[in-house]
Amino acid sequence: MKQEITSTAPDGNGLIDLFSRPISYLRLSLTDRCNLRCMYCVTEDESNGCLSKLGHGELLSYEELLRVVRVAVAMGITKVRLTGGEPLVRRNVLGFIRNLTEIEGLRDVRITTNGVLLERYGRELYDAGVTKVNISLDSLRRERITEITGVDCFDQVWRGIETVLALGFFPVKLNMVAMRQINDDEILEFARLSQRLPLQVRFIEFMPIGASSRWNADTYISTDEIMERIRTVGELVPMQKGRHDGPAQVFRLGADASGSLGFISPLSHHFCDRCNRLRLTSAGALRSCLLHDEEIDLRSVLRAQGPDSAIREALLAAIRNKPQGHQLEERMRRTGSDCHGRMSRIGG
Ligand code: 5AD
Ligand code: SF4
Repeated sequence: MKQEITSTAPDGNGLIDLFSRPISYLRLSLTDRCNLRCMYCVTEDESNGCLSKLGHGELLSYEELLRVVRVAVAMGITKVRLTGGEPLVRRNVLGFIRNLTEIEGLRDVRITTNGVLLERYGRELYDAGVTKVNISLDSLRRERITEITGVDCFDQVWRGIETVLALGFFPVKLNMVAMRQINDDEILEFARLSQRLPLQVRFIEFMPIGASSRWNADTYISTDEIMERIRTVGELVPMQKGRHDGPAQVFRLGADASGSLGFISPLSHHFCDRCNRLRLTSAGALRSCLLHDEEIDLRSVLRAQGPDSAIREALLAAIRNKPQGHQLEERMRRTGSDCHGRMSRIGG
């Protein structure tokens, strides 16, 4: 095992962690606020409208975020994903994104959104250079979306999806968190959607994350079970893994499908050995694993008015701390507890 982090960017191989994983991907949670209240995301105190949200001064400013990204890119980060909460609800987010995409060496800026504001902002995002989008959509039924998200937003999200497809975004991915007795009766409808439209429908295993997660062993459905159900209506033809596929296994449903199916299995098939990411939470903490609660307080480093080398040190420390794997099942067995970070702050 290597004892030190290698950083040979910008021309060399970039950042390599202690387990020989290249680290090239930074996820930025721009805000913990959201215009929806998805049942698996909000905690109990939030669901009744009593939100314990971060104050404005607790969020990193756009200047601070741009500074972090500039330093990270100089160290070898090449890809940034904007997440939330809902990233598009933060004020003046388009201006920030335009500055972000101008950073030299940053080849790839993507966004994960609930889609509510895509009809409004799709064109500007595209023009700013953000042409790859993931949209969270857990049902294709209007009433059910209202139940899951707390807001009657299906039509708006659907128009958002049509908008980005018409604008030529590629890839467009739909994230469906599969939950037994909640939306698992729609797995086949989602799979068929990928035959009709040029998008990637991704089935994500439900993860036990968040203090009051609705997760339990009965609600969880494994990728194997989802695939088994889909195989009853057509062949799953494996596709060559593309640059855009991340940890997903990708298939086509039948040879003529316009789109594809992705399967993301954080619990049943760990992909920790290929994990290339770091996260910056909306509270300005560096987090090297979604499912490990250890964080480094980068906000304090930034506000101590130190030099760029201090930011660089914090990024290297986060990479040094990146665990080999999440061992979530073992931790849950041992302590009965899950990961306590809030999804809306960490950014998924
Ligand atoms: N398990 C799996 N996926 C989740 N997401 C949010 N909470 C969970 C969870 N507990 C998904 C959202 C979004 C992505 C960022 O993470 O649906 O698409
Ligand atoms: Fe908002 Fe995403 Fe959480 Fe739903 S899962 S409430 S869209 S942050």
